[in-house]
Amino acid sequence: MLEELLAQLDKIEAEAPERFASCASEDGIDELRVEYLGRKADLTRIMKSIGEVAPDERPKLGARGSQVRKLVTEALESARERIARPVAAEPQFDPTLPGRTQSLGRLHPITMAVNEMLAILREMGFAVAEGPEIETDYYNYEALNFPPDHPARDMQDTYFLPKQDWLLRSHTSPTQIRVMEKQRPPVRVAWPGRVYRNEEVNARSMNQFYQVEGLYVDKGVTFVDLKGTIDAFCRRMFSPETKTRFRPSFFPFTEPSAEVDVTCMICKGTGCKVCKHTGWLEIIGAGMVDPALFGFVDYDPEVYSGFAFGMGVDRTAMIRWGISDIRWYWQNDLRFLGQFE
Ligand code: PHE
Repeated sequence: MLEELLAQLDKIEAEAPERFASCASEDGIDELRVEYLGRKADLTRIMKSIGEVAPDERPKLGARGSQVRKLVTEALESARERIARPVAAEPQFDPTLPGRTQSLGRLHPITMAVNEMLAILREMGFAVAEGPEIETDYYNYEALNFPPDHPARDMQDTYFLPKQDWLLRSHTSPTQIRVMEKQRPPVRVAWPGRVYRNEEVNARSMNQFYQVEGLYVDKGVTFVDLKGTIDAFCRRMFSPETKTRFRPSFFPFTEPSAEVDVTCMICKGTGCKVCKHTGWLEIIGAGMVDPALFGFVDYDPEVYSGFAFGMGVDRTAMIRWGISDIRWYWQNDLRFLGQFE
């Protein structure tokens, strides 16, 4: 008797799952439910007949019966679930939403200002070069005519590296020497770069910033050429109405030297907060190349003369775009960086 009941259970186990799985309608599933789990189903009958087998065989039949009933119940449930699911799934997203755009990134405002300055200088006939940020005492000071222990070195105090006499350049002027070492006059070259100063960091000054510098050496170059070049550059860079004003100054590597003021581009010269009510902004240092430099690069000072000029990029861009704190340049804040065209 036990053997026969177990064989019937095997048969149910083998058939039922497949029949549920291939059933495609709700009614069909219900019929199968009655057939396999209803009052008159084989399985039900077998479970009821447990009492009729020998007592020591009952646990085995009971366990096997429950196992098969569980399997059939699961087959029924998964068939119901399958039928309940709609044929074509509803889209899981809202197709009417606008797409997500890929943000493209853009140039840093300082890079944009550098590029613009160099583009103007290129149009004026300057070739573009580059020099290293790590310099030696020789290029940063000595060959630029800063005598050892001269107070002019204090104004350009920088960071000194532990090795040899290396330092982080305090200005882009060392590249004047490097350019002149490499080529003979005529020289008409400009270069951009980052420079370092041992300075307190605040809204108006950083211990690192950018300069764009130009050098022109040839026969018969005069101060008039310097003035004309800077005038033309500023009119292109700022506006056709921009005027320049040269004030006497001192740099060891130029003689005579000048600080160049340009008409304040915010108030057009009438006076405002940015220019401290003077109508002028000081952004350029310039002068005639000191003949002492020619001694270091083997140019004949009796034959050649030249001029050089250097301007601060960060402050120029601050004025141009109305940026009130120089530290914004360094904070990688996209809300700031995304504002400049
Ligand atoms: N190197 C000077 C500075 O950093 C600027 C300058 C450049 C002056 C070229 C004269 C000629 O202040």
